Amino acid sequence: MEALLSAITPASTRLPGAAAAPADAERAGLLDSALFAHAESVSNRFFGKDVYYRGIVEFSNVCENDCGYCGIRKHQRRARRYTMPADEVVEVADWAFKHRMGTLMLQSGELNTPQRLKYLVEVVQAVKARTQALDAEQRSLDPSQLPKDTTGLGLCVALSVGELPREQYQTLRDAGADRYLLRIESSNPELYASIHPPAQKWENRVRCLRDLKDIGFMIGTGVMVGLPGQTLRDLAGDVMFFRDLGADMIGMGPYITEAGTPVADMWAAQFEGVDKGAHMKEMLTLTTRMNALARVTLGNVNIAATTALQAIDAVGREIALRRGANVLMPILTPTKFREHYTLYEGKPCITDTAEECQKCLNARLSMVDKKLRPGVWGDPPSYRQSV
Ligand code: 5AD
Repeated sequence: MEALLSAITPASTRLPGAAAAPADAERAGLLDSALFAHAESVSNRFFGKDVYYRGIVEFSNVCENDCGYCGIRKHQRRARRYTMPADEVVEVADWAFKHRMGTLMLQSGELNTPQRLKYLVEVVQAVKARTQALDAEQRSLDPSQLPKDTTGLGLCVALSVGELPREQYQTLRDAGADRYLLRIESSNPELYASIHPPAQKWENRVRCLRDLKDIGFMIGTGVMVGLPGQTLRDLAGDVMFFRDLGADMIGMGPYITEAGTPVADMWAAQFEGVDKGAHMKEMLTLTTRMNALARVTLGNVNIAATTALQAIDAVGREIALRRGANVLMPILTPTKFREHYTLYEGKPCITDTAEECQKCLNARLSMVDKKLRPGVWGDPPSYRQSV
């Protein structure tokens, strides 16, 4: 714990709880360089220059929860609610497969209803069947002769649809879903409680993650960095939480204020008078330091260079790819829906098409001497070793 804490401490940061007195700028810079270089070398060992894509479709912003930081929370009145017709989601999946994305991530607000479960089962089954058939055709396999275990064929389907009862997770797994992303948001139950309403319990989130793993999903989790009230000790604890949980994928992003949410008010009270631009740049560095630390501590898991990094810096994701991250998540949501899925201010790419996002990301990858590994699921070696 203390070692993790000192690794994220070096540069000056406004978050309280640093392990030691802040080092001078030169020493801090050297420590950062050492951490980032170490993370990059661990990534290289497991992945070389390869970067995996997970195409993300934000298929609905309807939400029955009230997370205090989120732009699509139930009480966010300005949000215009939508749910994509199932066949439009399948069309996007088709596109993703043809553009060799490997994994499709279906993400939405949280909704625990029989209708939503039915919708998800239908979509997962259709995406699997459709892309497995396309894949079999391309590989000249006879679809009727396919082995039952078709892992690796067609698109890998990942879900990011929140907290549900164990039975529903089982139903979704049985329908063919492969992975599940559920951020713990903070491993500190008290901090978690301060940014969620009392009905949303940290313990239930942990229960969900354990159930998902137990059922056989590859699991992803993560936290927001720079939440009001968050300390560096909390962040060090987050990395230990990922390790203890046995997460296969980590997605961490800076917390970004969204007007009209309670956590944005908490943030404004804590950071009153602070230069917001400079502070957010620090949070970008701190987030990438967390990615680097996760890479060094957890080894061969998948780590995402998240979209929120780009909201702070036009090349935020590329920076993260040189500091331990190995996964990019191009947004494939049809343009007409994008502007309604604004979790935070300044979310990038909301006027782009899927084609534009893909082209743009390909160009960005070559900038940092990485390359897309197309058409593979990109399972983390951590998962392959554990099954
Ligand atoms: N800033 C940054 N990330 C956010 N998320 C939600 N709201 C915000 C925000 N204001 C993240 C949460 C959630 C994921 C889908 O988006 O971590 O798990």
